[in-house]
Amino acid sequence: MSILAPIICDNGTGFSKVGYAGNSDPSFVFPTAIATRGSAAQSTRTGPAVPSKPGHLASKRGVEDLDFFIGDEALANAKTPGYGINYPIRHGQIENWDYMERYWEQTIFKYLRAEPEDHYFLLTEPPLNPPENREQTAEIFFESFNIKGLYIAVQAVLALAASWSSNRVTDRTLTGTVIDSGDGVTHVIPCAEGYVIGSAIKHIPIAGRDITQFVLNLLRERGEMAGVPPEEHLKVASKVKENYSYVCQDIVKEFRKYDAEPYKYFERYEDEYSVTKKTYGVDVGYERFLAPEIFFNPEIYSSDFLTPLPEIVDGVIQQSPIDVRRGLYKNIVLSGGSTMFQHFGNRLKRDLKQIVDRRLENNTSGSQVKSSGVEVDVISHKRQRYAVWFGGSLMASLPEFYTSCHTKAQYDEVGPSICRRYQIFGSAT
Ligand SMILES: Nc1ncnc2c1ncn2[C@@H]1O[C@H](COP(=O)(O)OP(=O)(O)OP(=O)(O)O)[C@@H](O)[C@H]1O
Ligand SMILES: [Mg+2]
Repeated sequence: MSILAPIICDNGTGFSKVGYAGNSDPSFVFPTAIATRGSAAQSTRTGPAVPSKPGHLASKRGVEDLDFFIGDEALANAKTPGYGINYPIRHGQIENWDYMERYWEQTIFKYLRAEPEDHYFLLTEPPLNPPENREQTAEIFFESFNIKGLYIAVQAVLALAASWSSNRVTDRTLTGTVIDSGDGVTHVIPCAEGYVIGSAIKHIPIAGRDITQFVLNLLRERGEMAGVPPEEHLKVASKVKENYSYVCQDIVKEFRKYDAEPYKYFERYEDEYSVTKKTYGVDVGYERFLAPEIFFNPEIYSSDFLTPLPEIVDGVIQQSPIDVRRGLYKNIVLSGGSTMFQHFGNRLKRDLKQIVDRRLENNTSGSQVKSSGVEVDVISHKRQRYAVWFGGSLMASLPEFYTSCHTKAQYDEVGPSICRRYQIFGSAT
Protein backbone atom coordinates (compact mmCIF):
# COMPACT_ATOMS: atom_id res chain seq x y z
CA MET A 1 0.00 0.00 0.00
CA SER A 2 1.47 3.35 -0.92
CA ILE A 3 1.21 6.14 1.61
CA LEU A 4 0.42 9.68 0.52
CA ALA A 5 3.01 12.31 1.49
CA PRO A 6 2.68 13.67 5.02
CA ILE A 7 1.29 17.19 5.32
CA ILE A 8 3.46 19.81 7.05
CA CYS A 9 1.66 22.70 8.70
CA ASP A 10 3.62 25.51 10.38
CA ASN A 11 1.14 28.04 11.74
CA GLY A 12 2.88 31.28 12.75
CA THR A 13 1.65 34.48 14.34
CA GLY A 14 1.67 36.24 10.98
CA PHE A 15 1.76 33.54 8.32
CA SER A 16 0.94 29.89 7.93
CA LYS A 17 3.19 27.70 5.84
CA VAL A 18 1.63 24.47 4.56
CA GLY A 19 2.57 21.82 2.05
CA TYR A 20 3.84 18.29 1.56
CA ALA A 21 6.85 16.43 2.96
CA GLY A 22 9.72 16.07 0.53
CA ASN A 23 9.21 19.47 -1.11
CA SER A 24 11.70 22.26 -0.62
CA ASP A 25 9.07 24.99 -0.24
CA PRO A 26 5.60 25.16 1.24
CA SER A 27 2.76 24.95 -1.31
CA PHE A 28 0.89 27.79 0.41
CA VAL A 29 1.95 30.71 2.57
CA PHE A 30 -0.91 32.88 3.77
CA PRO A 31 -1.82 35.10 6.72
CA THR A 32 -2.96 33.35 9.87
CA ALA A 33 -6.18 35.33 9.84
CA ILE A 34 -9.82 34.29 9.69
CA ALA A 35 -12.84 36.45 8.92
CA THR A 36 -16.06 35.18 10.45
CA ARG A 37 -19.57 36.46 10.40
CA GLY A 38 -20.64 38.59 13.31
CA SER A 39 -17.46 38.16 15.27
CA ALA A 40 -15.93 41.61 15.10
CA ALA A 41 -16.73 42.38 18.74
CA GLN A 42 -14.66 39.49 20.08
CA SER A 43 -12.07 39.62 17.37
CA THR A 44 -9.29 41.80 18.71
CA ARG A 45 -5.81 40.37 18.93
CA THR A 46 -5.78 41.11 22.60
CA GLY A 47 -9.16 39.57 23.31
CA PRO A 48 -9.48 36.53 25.54
CA ALA A 49 -9.41 33.06 24.06
CA VAL A 50 -12.78 31.55 23.32
CA PRO A 51 -12.56 28.00 24.57
CA SER A 52 -14.72 25.54 22.77
CA LYS A 53 -14.99 21.84 22.57
CA PRO A 54 -13.37 20.66 19.37
CA GLY A 55 -15.22 18.25 17.19
CA HIS A 56 -18.19 20.28 16.09
CA LEU A 57 -16.90 20.34 12.55
CA ALA A 58 -16.83 16.58 12.21
CA SER A 59 -20.43 16.49 11.09
CA LYS A 60 -19.90 18.84 8.16
CA ARG A 61 -16.45 17.81 7.02
CA GLY A 62 -15.93 18.20 3.30
CA VAL A 63 -19.01 20.37 2.97
CA GLU A 64 -18.27 23.79 1.51
CA ASP A 65 -18.70 26.22 4.36
CA LEU A 66 -19.04 29.72 3.00
CA ASP A 67 -19.51 31.44 6.29
CA PHE A 68 -15.88 32.33 6.85
CA PHE A 69 -12.66 33.13 5.00
CA ILE A 70 -9.03 32.50 5.84
CA GLY A 71 -5.71 34.00 4.75
CA ASP A 72 -5.66 36.75 2.13
CA GLU A 73 -9.38 36.24 1.53
CA ALA A 74 -10.00 36.96 5.20
CA LEU A 75 -8.10 40.25 4.94
CA ALA A 76 -10.00 41.13 1.76
CA ASN A 77 -13.34 40.44 3.47
CA ALA A 78 -12.47 42.11 6.75
CA LYS A 79 -14.44 45.17 5.73
CA THR A 80 -17.46 43.30 4.36
CA PRO A 81 -20.42 44.29 6.52
CA GLY A 82 -21.12 41.65 9.12
CA TYR A 83 -17.65 40.12 9.06
CA GLY A 84 -14.91 40.53 11.63
CA ILE A 85 -11.25 39.63 11.38
CA ASN A 86 -9.51 37.41 13.92
CA TYR A 87 -5.92 36.35 14.44
CA PRO A 88 -6.09 33.03 16.30
CA ILE A 89 -2.35 32.90 17.07
CA ARG A 90 -0.70 35.46 19.32
CA HIS A 91 3.02 35.58 20.05
CA GLY A 92 3.37 32.13 18.51
CA GLN A 93 0.69 30.44 20.61
CA ILE A 94 -2.84 29.43 19.67
CA GLU A 95 -5.23 31.63 21.62
CA ASN A 96 -8.55 30.89 20.00
CA TRP A 97 -9.17 27.19 19.40
CA ASP A 98 -12.52 27.58 17.75
CA TYR A 99 -11.13 29.86 15.06
CA MET A 100 -8.00 27.75 14.74
CA GLU A 101 -10.03 24.62 14.10
CA ARG A 102 -11.98 26.36 11.35
CA TYR A 103 -8.77 27.79 9.95
CA TRP A 104 -7.23 24.29 9.73
CA GLU A 105 -10.43 22.94 8.19
CA GLN A 106 -10.22 25.35 5.23
CA THR A 107 -6.47 24.88 4.99
CA ILE A 108 -6.96 21.17 4.44
CA PHE A 109 -10.09 21.13 2.31
CA LYS A 110 -9.91 24.36 0.36
CA TYR A 111 -6.19 25.01 -0.04
CA LEU A 112 -4.55 21.59 0.03
CA ARG A 113 -7.70 19.86 -1.27
CA ALA A 114 -6.64 16.81 0.70
CA GLU A 115 -8.55 14.10 2.52
CA PRO A 116 -7.12 14.23 6.04
CA GLU A 117 -7.95 10.52 6.58
CA ASP A 118 -5.29 9.66 4.03
CA HIS A 119 -2.42 11.60 5.57
CA TYR A 120 0.03 11.78 8.43
CA PHE A 121 0.48 15.34 9.70
CA LEU A 122 3.48 17.14 11.10
CA LEU A 123 2.53 20.26 13.05
CA THR A 124 4.82 22.72 14.78
CA GLU A 125 4.73 24.32 18.21
CA PRO A 126 6.63 27.15 19.87
CA PRO A 127 9.10 26.40 22.66
CA LEU A 128 7.56 25.81 26.11
CA ASN A 129 4.13 25.11 24.65
CA PRO A 130 1.92 23.87 27.50
CA PRO A 131 1.06 20.14 27.19
CA GLU A 132 -2.64 21.02 27.27
CA ASN A 133 -2.18 22.78 23.93
CA ARG A 134 -0.68 19.64 22.39
CA GLU A 135 -3.65 17.64 23.67
CA GLN A 136 -6.14 20.13 22.31
CA THR A 137 -4.41 20.04 18.91
CA ALA A 138 -4.39 16.22 18.88
CA GLU A 139 -8.08 16.14 19.75
CA ILE A 140 -8.93 18.37 16.79
CA PHE A 141 -6.78 16.48 14.29
CA PHE A 142 -7.78 12.98 15.38
CA GLU A 143 -11.42 13.57 16.27
CA SER A 144 -12.55 16.26 13.84
CA PHE A 145 -10.28 15.43 10.94
CA ASN A 146 -9.70 11.74 11.60
CA ILE A 147 -6.08 11.86 10.41
CA LYS A 148 -3.85 8.78 10.12
CA GLY A 149 -1.03 9.94 12.40
CA LEU A 150 0.39 13.02 14.09
CA TYR A 151 3.78 14.39 15.08
CA ILE A 152 4.02 17.74 16.84
CA ALA A 153 7.56 19.11 16.58
CA VAL A 154 9.18 22.03 18.34
CA GLN A 155 9.85 24.77 15.78
CA ALA A 156 13.44 25.31 16.93
CA VAL A 157 14.34 21.67 16.46
CA LEU A 158 12.97 21.75 12.91
CA ALA A 159 15.00 24.90 12.24
CA LEU A 160 18.14 22.99 13.28
CA ALA A 161 17.24 20.17 10.92
CA ALA A 162 16.70 22.70 8.11
CA SER A 163 20.28 23.94 8.47
CA TRP A 164 21.58 20.49 7.49
CA SER A 165 20.93 21.64 3.94
CA SER A 166 23.68 24.27 4.26
CA ASN A 167 26.95 23.13 2.71
CA ARG A 168 28.78 24.39 5.80
CA VAL A 169 27.03 21.85 7.98
CA THR A 170 28.85 18.55 7.90
CA ASP A 171 27.09 16.55 10.59
CA ARG A 172 23.40 16.19 11.22
CA THR A 173 23.34 17.55 14.73
CA LEU A 174 20.35 18.67 16.75
CA THR A 175 22.60 20.64 19.11
CA GLY A 176 22.71 24.37 18.47
CA THR A 177 21.20 27.76 19.26
CA VAL A 178 18.24 28.81 17.13
CA ILE A 179 17.38 32.45 16.50
CA ASP A 180 13.80 32.26 15.27
CA SER A 181 12.45 35.67 14.37
CA GLY A 182 9.11 35.88 12.65
CA ASP A 183 6.33 38.40 12.65
CA GLY A 184 5.22 38.41 16.25
CA VAL A 185 8.09 37.19 18.36
CA THR A 186 11.83 36.50 18.40
CA HIS A 187 13.07 33.51 20.39
CA VAL A 188 16.62 32.47 21.21
CA ILE A 189 16.47 28.76 21.89
CA PRO A 190 19.34 26.50 22.92
CA CYS A 191 18.89 22.83 22.00
CA ALA A 192 20.96 19.83 23.03
CA GLU A 193 20.47 16.65 21.03
CA GLY A 194 16.97 17.59 19.99
CA TYR A 195 15.78 18.74 23.40
CA VAL A 196 15.14 22.38 24.15
CA ILE A 197 16.98 23.69 27.23
CA GLY A 198 13.84 25.35 28.52
CA SER A 199 15.39 27.16 31.48
CA ALA A 200 17.75 29.15 29.23
CA ILE A 201 15.33 30.27 26.47
CA LYS A 202 14.87 34.01 25.99
CA HIS A 203 12.15 35.91 24.15
CA ILE A 204 12.78 39.30 22.63
CA PRO A 205 9.78 41.55 22.19
CA ILE A 206 10.97 42.75 18.77
CA ALA A 207 9.97 41.00 15.54
CA GLY A 208 8.79 41.72 12.00
CA ARG A 209 5.70 43.65 12.92
CA ASP A 210 7.71 46.06 15.11
CA ILE A 211 10.34 46.55 12.42
CA THR A 212 7.63 47.42 9.87
CA GLN A 213 6.17 49.96 12.31
CA PHE A 214 9.62 51.42 12.90
CA VAL A 215 10.21 51.82 9.15
CA LEU A 216 6.83 53.48 8.83
CA ASN A 217 7.69 55.93 11.65
CA LEU A 218 10.98 56.81 9.97
CA LEU A 219 9.36 57.36 6.56
CA ARG A 220 6.70 59.53 8.16
CA GLU A 221 9.26 61.58 10.06
CA ARG A 222 11.07 62.31 6.83
CA GLY A 223 7.77 63.38 5.24
CA GLU A 224 7.86 60.60 2.65
CA MET A 225 4.37 59.28 3.41
CA ALA A 226 2.52 62.52 2.74
CA GLY A 227 1.50 61.46 -0.77
CA VAL A 228 0.69 57.85 0.09
CA PRO A 229 -2.93 56.83 0.85
CA PRO A 230 -3.17 55.85 4.54
CA GLU A 231 -4.52 52.38 3.61
CA GLU A 232 -1.23 51.69 1.85
CA HIS A 233 1.12 52.79 4.64
CA LEU A 234 1.75 49.40 6.22
CA LYS A 235 2.19 47.75 2.85
CA VAL A 236 4.77 50.34 1.79
CA ALA A 237 6.68 50.00 5.05
CA SER A 238 6.82 46.22 4.82
CA LYS A 239 7.88 46.27 1.14
CA VAL A 240 10.62 48.76 1.97
CA LYS A 241 11.72 46.57 4.85
CA GLU A 242 11.69 43.33 2.86
CA ASN A 243 13.19 44.59 -0.38
CA TYR A 244 15.62 47.40 0.45
CA SER A 245 17.01 46.79 3.94
CA TYR A 246 20.34 45.36 4.99
CA VAL A 247 22.49 45.15 8.09
CA CYS A 248 25.45 47.54 8.09
CA GLN A 249 28.77 47.29 9.92
CA ASP A 250 28.65 50.67 11.63
CA ILE A 251 25.70 53.09 11.66
CA VAL A 252 27.75 56.26 12.08
CA LYS A 253 29.75 55.48 8.94
CA GLU A 254 26.60 54.48 7.11
CA PHE A 255 24.90 57.81 7.89
CA ARG A 256 27.98 59.62 6.58
CA LYS A 257 27.94 57.62 3.34
CA TYR A 258 24.28 58.47 2.73
CA ASP A 259 24.79 62.15 3.47
CA ALA A 260 27.86 62.43 1.25
CA GLU A 261 26.40 60.63 -1.77
CA PRO A 262 22.62 60.36 -1.39
CA TYR A 263 22.04 59.66 -5.09
CA LYS A 264 24.14 56.53 -4.69
CA TYR A 265 22.32 55.06 -1.69
CA PHE A 266 18.75 56.37 -1.76
CA GLU A 267 16.28 54.14 -3.62
CA ARG A 268 12.90 54.93 -5.12
CA TYR A 269 9.91 52.76 -4.29
CA GLU A 270 6.83 53.21 -6.47
CA ASP A 271 3.47 51.51 -6.45
CA GLU A 272 -0.12 51.96 -7.56
CA TYR A 273 -3.10 52.47 -5.26
CA SER A 274 -5.59 49.82 -6.35
CA VAL A 275 -8.66 51.96 -5.58
CA THR A 276 -7.78 55.12 -7.54
CA LYS A 277 -5.16 53.55 -9.86
CA LYS A 278 -2.90 56.50 -9.06
CA THR A 279 0.80 55.88 -8.66
CA TYR A 280 2.70 57.09 -5.64
CA GLY A 281 6.31 56.84 -4.58
CA VAL A 282 8.68 57.26 -1.65
CA ASP A 283 12.42 57.84 -1.42
CA VAL A 284 13.94 55.15 0.74
CA GLY A 285 17.03 56.26 2.65
CA TYR A 286 18.33 55.68 6.16
CA GLU A 287 15.49 53.18 6.77
CA ARG A 288 17.49 50.75 4.69
CA PHE A 289 20.09 50.12 7.37
CA LEU A 290 18.20 51.39 10.44
CA ALA A 291 15.41 48.79 10.14
CA PRO A 292 17.42 45.70 11.15
CA GLU A 293 19.67 47.81 13.41
CA ILE A 294 16.83 47.43 15.95
CA PHE A 295 18.27 44.01 16.78
CA PHE A 296 21.75 45.37 17.45
CA ASN A 297 20.90 48.77 18.99
CA PRO A 298 17.33 48.38 20.27
CA GLU A 299 17.39 51.80 21.92
CA ILE A 300 16.81 53.39 18.50
CA TYR A 301 13.26 51.99 18.62
CA SER A 302 12.13 51.67 22.21
CA SER A 303 13.19 52.49 25.70
CA ASP A 304 11.50 49.38 27.16
CA PHE A 305 13.85 46.81 25.76
CA LEU A 306 17.52 47.66 25.52
CA THR A 307 19.62 44.50 25.26
CA PRO A 308 21.22 43.87 21.87
CA LEU A 309 20.56 40.47 20.29
CA PRO A 310 24.23 39.30 20.43
CA GLU A 311 24.25 39.89 24.20
CA ILE A 312 21.02 37.95 24.59
CA VAL A 313 22.46 35.05 22.60
CA ASP A 314 25.60 35.04 24.75
CA GLY A 315 23.49 35.11 27.92
CA VAL A 316 21.35 32.20 26.73
CA ILE A 317 24.41 30.07 26.03
CA GLN A 318 26.08 31.01 29.32
CA GLN A 319 22.94 29.89 31.15
CA SER A 320 23.02 26.49 29.44
CA PRO A 321 24.92 23.52 30.91
CA ILE A 322 28.67 23.95 30.55
CA ASP A 323 29.22 20.74 28.60
CA VAL A 324 27.03 21.85 25.70
CA ARG A 325 28.16 25.49 25.44
CA ARG A 326 30.79 24.88 22.78
CA GLY A 327 28.21 23.12 20.61
CA LEU A 328 25.81 26.02 21.11
CA TYR A 329 28.35 28.70 20.10
CA LYS A 330 29.49 26.89 17.00
CA ASN A 331 26.07 26.14 15.58
CA ILE A 332 23.89 29.25 15.74
CA VAL A 333 21.10 28.77 13.25
CA LEU A 334 18.84 31.45 11.77
CA SER A 335 15.16 30.87 11.06
CA GLY A 336 12.15 32.96 10.06
CA GLY A 337 11.35 35.99 7.92
CA SER A 338 12.94 38.58 10.18
CA THR A 339 16.39 36.96 9.94
CA MET A 340 16.37 37.52 6.15
CA PHE A 341 18.10 40.91 6.18
CA GLN A 342 21.32 40.83 4.17
CA HIS A 343 24.46 40.39 6.31
CA PHE A 344 22.39 39.65 9.43
CA GLY A 345 24.38 36.49 10.17
CA ASN A 346 27.77 38.17 9.68
CA ARG A 347 26.99 41.02 12.04
CA LEU A 348 25.62 38.67 14.70
CA LYS A 349 28.73 36.53 14.43
CA ARG A 350 31.08 39.52 14.64
CA ASP A 351 29.37 41.11 17.66
CA LEU A 352 29.01 37.82 19.50
CA LYS A 353 32.64 36.90 18.85
CA GLN A 354 33.69 40.23 20.38
CA ILE A 355 31.69 39.50 23.54
CA VAL A 356 33.13 36.00 23.84
CA ASP A 357 36.73 37.07 23.15
CA ARG A 358 36.51 39.91 25.65
CA ARG A 359 35.36 37.52 28.35
CA LEU A 360 38.12 35.04 27.53
CA GLU A 361 40.70 37.81 27.68
CA ASN A 362 39.48 38.96 31.08
CA ASN A 363 39.46 35.42 32.40
CA THR A 364 42.92 34.53 31.17
CA SER A 365 44.70 37.84 31.75
CA GLY A 366 47.54 37.26 34.19
CA SER A 367 47.43 33.53 33.58
CA GLN A 368 50.22 31.72 31.72
CA VAL A 369 47.81 29.33 30.06
CA LYS A 370 46.76 30.44 26.61
CA SER A 371 43.11 29.73 25.84
CA SER A 372 42.36 27.96 22.58
CA GLY A 373 39.34 30.25 22.09
CA VAL A 374 35.74 29.44 21.42
CA GLU A 375 34.48 28.85 17.91
CA VAL A 376 31.49 31.04 17.09
CA ASP A 377 29.58 30.34 13.91
CA VAL A 378 26.25 31.59 12.60
CA ILE A 379 24.63 29.53 9.86
CA SER A 380 22.68 31.36 7.17
CA HIS A 381 21.26 29.17 4.43
CA LYS A 382 18.94 29.11 1.43
CA ARG A 383 15.95 27.70 3.28
CA GLN A 384 16.06 30.13 6.19
CA ARG A 385 12.87 32.02 5.31
CA TYR A 386 10.71 28.93 5.82
CA ALA A 387 13.27 27.00 7.88
CA VAL A 388 10.75 25.56 10.32
CA TRP A 389 8.52 24.31 7.52
CA PHE A 390 11.46 22.97 5.51
CA GLY A 391 12.88 21.18 8.59
CA GLY A 392 9.47 19.54 8.95
CA SER A 393 9.53 18.53 5.30
CA LEU A 394 12.95 16.89 5.79
CA MET A 395 12.04 15.12 9.03
CA ALA A 396 8.76 13.78 7.66
CA SER A 397 10.66 12.32 4.69
CA LEU A 398 12.76 10.11 6.97
CA PRO A 399 11.56 6.54 7.47
CA GLU A 400 11.66 6.98 11.28
CA PHE A 401 8.96 9.62 10.96
CA TYR A 402 6.18 7.04 10.72
CA THR A 403 7.34 5.12 13.78
CA SER A 404 7.75 8.37 15.75
CA CYS A 405 4.20 9.53 15.01
CA HIS A 406 1.21 8.78 17.19
CA THR A 407 -1.33 6.89 15.12
CA LYS A 408 -5.09 7.13 15.17
CA ALA A 409 -5.28 3.66 16.78
CA GLN A 410 -2.87 4.71 19.56
CA TYR A 411 -4.82 7.91 20.11
CA ASP A 412 -8.10 6.00 20.35
CA GLU A 413 -6.57 3.65 22.90
CA VAL A 414 -4.79 6.18 25.15
CA GLY A 415 -6.57 9.49 24.49
CA PRO A 416 -5.15 13.00 23.99
CA SER A 417 -2.58 12.57 26.79
CA ILE A 418 -0.58 10.39 24.40
CA CYS A 419 0.70 13.62 22.85
CA ARG A 420 2.52 14.62 26.01
CA ARG A 421 5.19 12.11 24.99
CA TYR A 422 7.22 12.37 21.84
CA GLN A 423 10.29 10.85 20.32
CA ILE A 424 13.28 12.73 18.92
CA PHE A 425 14.64 11.27 15.69
CA GLY A 426 16.72 12.05 12.64
CA SER A 427 20.06 13.32 13.94
CA ALA A 428 23.28 11.45 13.21
CA THR A 429 25.06 12.64 16.34
N1 LIG B 1 13.29 39.52 3.06
C1 LIG B 1 12.83 39.90 4.25
N2 LIG B 1 13.51 40.78 5.01
C2 LIG B 1 13.03 41.17 6.22
N3 LIG B 1 11.87 40.73 6.76
C3 LIG B 1 11.16 39.84 6.05
C4 LIG B 1 11.59 39.38 4.77
N4 LIG B 1 10.66 38.49 4.30
C5 LIG B 1 9.71 38.42 5.24
N5 LIG B 1 9.99 39.22 6.29
C6 LIG B 1 9.17 39.44 7.50
O1 LIG B 1 9.09 38.21 8.21
C7 LIG B 1 7.87 38.18 8.97
C8 LIG B 1 7.19 36.84 8.75
O2 LIG B 1 8.07 35.83 9.16
P1 LIG B 1 7.57 34.34 9.55
O3 LIG B 1 6.70 33.78 8.48
O4 LIG B 1 8.79 33.59 9.94
O5 LIG B 1 6.70 34.69 10.85
P2 LIG B 1 5.58 33.83 11.59
O6 LIG B 1 6.01 32.40 11.64
O7 LIG B 1 4.27 34.14 10.99
O8 LIG B 1 5.58 34.48 13.03
P3 LIG B 1 6.11 33.91 14.45
O9 LIG B 1 7.25 32.99 14.16
O10 LIG B 1 6.52 35.17 15.15
O11 LIG B 1 4.95 33.23 15.06
C9 LIG B 1 7.03 39.36 8.47
O12 LIG B 1 7.11 40.40 9.44
C10 LIG B 1 7.74 39.77 7.17
O13 LIG B 1 7.60 41.17 6.91
MG1 LIG C 1 7.25 31.11 12.87
